[in-house]
Amino acid sequence: PLTTPKEMFARGYAEGFAIGGFNVNNMEIIQGIMEAGNLEKSPLILQVSAGARRYAGQGYIIKLMEAALAENDLPVCLHLDHGQNFEICKEVIDGGFTSVMIDGSHLSFEDNIALTKQVVAYAHDRGVWVEAELGQLAGVEDDVDVEHSVYTNPDQAAEFVGRTGCDSLAIAIGTSHGAYKFAGEAKLDFDRLEKIKALLPDYPIVLHGASSVPQEFVDMANQYGAQIAGAKGVPEDLLRKAAASAVCKINIDTDIRLAMTATIRKYLAENPSHFDPRQYLQVARTAVRDMVAHKIRNVLGSSNKI
Ligand code: G3H
Ligand code: 13P
Ligand code: ZN
Repeated sequence: PLTTPKEMFARGYAEGFAIGGFNVNNMEIIQGIMEAGNLEKSPLILQVSAGARRYAGQGYIIKLMEAALAENDLPVCLHLDHGQNFEICKEVIDGGFTSVMIDGSHLSFEDNIALTKQVVAYAHDRGVWVEAELGQLAGVEDDVDVEHSVYTNPDQAAEFVGRTGCDSLAIAIGTSHGAYKFAGEAKLDFDRLEKIKALLPDYPIVLHGASSVPQEFVDMANQYGAQIAGAKGVPEDLLRKAAASAVCKINIDTDIRLAMTATIRKYLAENPSHFDPRQYLQVARTAVRDMVAHKIRNVLGSSNKI
């Protein structure tokens, strides 16, 4: 059934695992993720960015999710990723989403609080969960391109949650969006995470930009014509450590994109006479399933938690 993340996070916090926030854009991605959730018996968060909503159309996403839920008996949350303003949050809440992110991280502290409070008021009246963000991740997300990250200040995080009433908080501790996360050594600021945890006990923290950019898929894509040299993600052991602490939601988009694209490139290179889209989308869908199942089992720890 369609649910909010409330129970998923409560159990994840208590037992030291996290739920994947998997980005969806089309039918094959939704099907691949749902299949992985079924295989692993894991709760799922399927999330839609503004760009995904523009690409597929909100109506299509909601109908695809209805079809997915009719065929799968799993707790699933339908979440808006990086909502930039009140209106988009309102539109998806009115459409049936169970969770929204209001991303005021590029605003001043006070403006971020004011915007988040406005969304919290509308969402909570309708039983919808609100994720907010404090701090800035470097990298590209939708229309915003941030050059340098601004790590989350723990005292401000506690004040922000107290004043807004948001249900979960995305923080910046060294991750970033996309395939190029670290020029040098990959590291996360766990001391900062622990300070935030101490100031906000039992409070669910969210990690964006948490793809691991597996080298085997970078190599596969490059072998079949891609040019994505120097890509580097968050090592899996760091994500497991975060999941064992206060991090209850780990966002993964880039790894799904890489798995699909590498697989499709290989398929088309090896089958130059094929032109039925079902053939390469089928192998791409299987690649999504395998990637997500791997995350659930080996990184998030959410297998058998339904
Ligand atoms: O935060 C960014 C997510 O990966 C979504 O990306 O805005 O290109 O759909 P997108
Ligand atoms: P990645 O680019 O690391 O997959 O992060 C996705 C994300 O944070 C979506 O909000
Ligand atoms: Zn994000």
